[in-house]
Amino acid sequence: MSERTKVVAGNWKMNHGPEAVAGFVEGLELPAEGPRVMLFPPALSVAAMVARRPRGVEVGVQNIHWEPGGAFTGEVSAEMAREAGATLALIGHSERRHLFGETDEEVARKVEAAHRAGLTPLVCVGETLEQRRAGRVEEVILAQLDAALEVVDPDDPLIVAYEPVWAIGTGETATPDDAAAAHGALRARTRERGPVDPDRLAILYGGSVKPGNAAELMAAPDVDGVLVGGASLDPVSFAAIVRAGR
Ligand code: PGA
Repeated sequence: MSERTKVVAGNWKMNHGPEAVAGFVEGLELPAEGPRVMLFPPALSVAAMVARRPRGVEVGVQNIHWEPGGAFTGEVSAEMAREAGATLALIGHSERRHLFGETDEEVARKVEAAHRAGLTPLVCVGETLEQRRAGRVEEVILAQLDAALEVVDPDDPLIVAYEPVWAIGTGETATPDDAAAAHGALRARTRERGPVDPDRLAILYGGSVKPGNAAELMAAPDVDGVLVGGASLDPVSFAAIVRAGR
């Protein structure tokens, strides 16, 4: 067993506006002790979640711009997220990379912005099905990891999520062995090149995590928790996943 505290994080994507927050929180029965619990609602629901969250639940935004402010219509800065009570920022989610064309360079700038504002970046990496079939899993995810490691200082907080693109929202999950192999490669790379302490780096798995497969995935070597999309929208299934991480 690793010494690292398990993490269960919920990414609501573009679901649940501010009015849905109260009902979600009312239905959320969390264990008294267990993993770190994080929720990433849409930016407009962050303040409501911060106000109503159960004790200990950490709140983050799903994306930030790298500038602190200015003429960037439609964007939200890391500083504004912090002001609204967020302490985390999801960065480089595959939907950002593939639907909105986010590059490794932009991911790196956002990681720097998160640290500047006092947010912990949760950086997502993952290969497409085509890249997996071509045997390029490690090459792809290590290059994505490197882009983030390049801009962090040894004491900067950082969380990484391995989310194979083909497993997101598809009902397909990586096997615990596949996840362990990818997570092991990510940790080994961190050990090789630093600067963050590889033994303290939380690496989460994401991609069709459900109450029924969460415990098995979280028991795999080097898997320090899960990043949950669809199953985090319902408080009962999200709480069941949190319990699986105890
Ligand atoms: P999913 O999404 O659990 O719905 O597959 C995971 C994610 O995109 O973070």
